[in-house]
Amino acid sequence: MYGLSDEQRALQEEARRFAEKEILPVAAKYDESSEFPLEIIKKAHSLGLINLIQDAELSGTGLGIFEACLIIEEIAAACSGFATSMVANDLALTPILLGGSKEQKEKFIKPIAEGGKLASFCLSEPNAGSDAAGISCAVKREGDEYVISGTKQWITNGQFASQYTVFATIDRSKKHKGICCLVVPADSKGISTGHHENKLGQRCSNTVQITFENVRVPAENMIGEEGGGFAIAMKTLDASRPLTAIIAVGIARSAYQHALRYSKERKQFSQTLSSFQAIQFMLADMITKIEAARLLTMQSAQMLDKKERATLQSSMAKRFAADMAMEVTVDAVQIFGGYGYTKEYPVEKLMRDAKLMQIYEGTSQIQRIVIAREILS
Ligand code: CAA
Repeated sequence: MYGLSDEQRALQEEARRFAEKEILPVAAKYDESSEFPLEIIKKAHSLGLINLIQDAELSGTGLGIFEACLIIEEIAAACSGFATSMVANDLALTPILLGGSKEQKEKFIKPIAEGGKLASFCLSEPNAGSDAAGISCAVKREGDEYVISGTKQWITNGQFASQYTVFATIDRSKKHKGICCLVVPADSKGISTGHHENKLGQRCSNTVQITFENVRVPAENMIGEEGGGFAIAMKTLDASRPLTAIIAVGIARSAYQHALRYSKERKQFSQTLSSFQAIQFMLADMITKIEAARLLTMQSAQMLDKKERATLQSSMAKRFAADMAMEVTVDAVQIFGGYGYTKEYPVEKLMRDAKLMQIYEGTSQIQRIVIAREILS
């Protein structure tokens, strides 16, 4: 596939080994307990499986988005909750990578990557999810400092992060033109984190609300210009959507593999399920959709790695892969029948996990808006 180089294959195999040894055996346990697998995440950090697209000079892994996708598909095939937690650092650090000065990258990316620490991307709010330009978290300048007040919602890794990348508005009347991007150390005075959300799927990825109450940061923590934060957020999402799309591919691949194996073992009417054309057609559609989603995703990753604008391709990949993962996991449960509906088999978890793919990092409906705007503009 895509003529992977020996180096790319080695990366993929290393990620698969890690996923099969460290994640797969405990995926059901963490799904049940909804605990954050901090020690395993730290191990991933030490192996260079986190901060994948951050520059090597900044202690990141220094990979392209394409290579990062090869790794994340393997992690997600074992457990997408882990994959979401692992790519969250890239999501939080990419605004700095894209919009920060050399000094800011040294100051805000390097210590996180070097120290095996976590960072969180804080855009969504209780009343502003899809409408990212409608955020109300406020920032004002006071002397040499910015003061931030507001609440952020659905913050991945929020309870364990050392640093937050926060989007806040300096003037709501300016809508997206008032949005700023600021780096906030998690130990700043005035920050409180809510409880870990009791989610349907991807339960081990830590998801919390964070409140900022008159939190002060030095003026040099502003990334880019005042009012330039929205464009930074959008460009970050362009770059991270392939990494989200590939999580959906990993979930679907796993569901398909379980369904394929089961269809060859399970007998009804004295024949294996796989001998029925109804089941064969389902499996044929599942694998076709997975391959198509992977190709769209890798195309968008390659474009981004070549520094081409890939808003359309990233959104198409995210939209298609997320919806595909939902369809494929539902079909996998169907092939397993009643057993698939129980926790005795892994496909019900995959179906629950897949649902989040259609919601976070821009719902499937938001992706359609982006796609439509791109093709009509
Ligand atoms: N790159 C650069 N600039 C962009 C851009 C892009 N991809 N998309 C938009 N812009 C610019 C536009 O050109 C425009 O600039 P001008 O002022 O110069 O004209 C400006 O941004 C405003 O754009 P729009 O008019 O398109 O803005 P909008 O308010 O209509 O919203 C939207 C656009 C695409 C719907 C956006 O709100 C959006 O992406 N919403 C979804 C938010 C989202 O994905 N949230 C996920 C949170 S993170 C998460 O879930 C991760 C996690 O923790 C697991």
